[in-house]
Amino acid sequence: MNNQSFELLFSIFPQVTEKSLWILDENPPVNCPAANNHIEVISNRVDVVEQMQQRGFNATFSDFSFDKLINTGYQFVFFRISKEKALAHHVINSAYQLLKSDGQLIISGAKQEGIKGYIDRSSKRYLHVETFKADKAHWAARYKNTENPSTTLDDKDYPLIRESVEETHFKETVVFSSKPGVFGWNKIDRGSQLLIESLEMIENQLPAVKTILDIGCGYGYLSVLAAKKFNCSITATDNNAAAIETCRFNLNKQGIEHQVIAASCAKGIKEKFELVVCNPPFHTGFSVENDLTDQFLKAAKQRLGHDGMAIFVVNLHIPLERKALQYFDSVNLINESPNFKVIALK
Ligand SMILES: C[S@@+](CC[C@H](N)C(=O)[O-])C[C@H]1O[C@@H](n2cnc3c(N)ncnc32)[C@H](O)[C@@H]1O
Repeated sequence: MNNQSFELLFSIFPQVTEKSLWILDENPPVNCPAANNHIEVISNRVDVVEQMQQRGFNATFSDFSFDKLINTGYQFVFFRISKEKALAHHVINSAYQLLKSDGQLIISGAKQEGIKGYIDRSSKRYLHVETFKADKAHWAARYKNTENPSTTLDDKDYPLIRESVEETHFKETVVFSSKPGVFGWNKIDRGSQLLIESLEMIENQLPAVKTILDIGCGYGYLSVLAAKKFNCSITATDNNAAAIETCRFNLNKQGIEHQVIAASCAKGIKEKFELVVCNPPFHTGFSVENDLTDQFLKAAKQRLGHDGMAIFVVNLHIPLERKALQYFDSVNLINESPNFKVIALK
């Protein structure tokens, strides 16, 4: 991902003289100016928080719940727009309560990511001061608070965890709750569905399953259904704050013994598991991700106990089998649909 949308935000950094807030999602900048004591960072991705802390910033992890920051009176709020509209609108709406009376909101992004639309919509809530550009494709805008904003951008009630989808598996209907900000929050991923259906095919090849690891758990679809299938406890992990919140919510609601851990690629988890389930990410924000599949495979290998098995589901075009051979002795395609394949790794 190129840095030009961030460069537009950085061009304002020299004007920061008081407490300011930089809101970052899963797309951290490739390069950034030295840490500035006045600029706090908030991100919903645990790895981005760690990265920014290593760069010397005061960075915190949250699903952009700004309640504790309201009335801080920030001089600037900086935001490079996110891929998810509801999230971006939530951040843009919230800036109103975060800024001091003459504070400024600065947003930036690429034209192909819809920055022009965000600039137009934000102009209805704030006083538009200026639009400035890096080139034809990368734009930013600067806003001031108006006294009584008449418009709120549609954020789909971003903070609210609500019932979103239901699934019947193993003769039981489970209602999942979710929220914007989580991968595919209001749908069931067909690949994950195929993985759950495939568990029947491998259960007799497994040692007694006492505990399962779900890497990249999202709102907990695989965690809940796999734990129910084997009547066991689950460790679920994701790098996204909204996923952690909703997965925990669903496991609690189903009365499943669990731990939900915010980590990138299961980093820091030390236990071993009889079964690892995983539907790895294919995109990170606006970019296509290749390395993460490798990192997820590596984590699965490290966390598998003797005789354990990892089950991955991916789009047909992802060369998972070839990648997996670097880490596993046995790589078997056990199920496929027109779009997905399920692979068992030992
Ligand atoms: C394809 S989704 C699968 C979600 C869920 N398991 C399901 O079946 O609905 C991939 C998940 O991986 C998570 N993810 C992306 N990058 C990650 C990382 N570096 N570490 C841990 N999880 C990550 C995403 O937040 C997302 O929830």
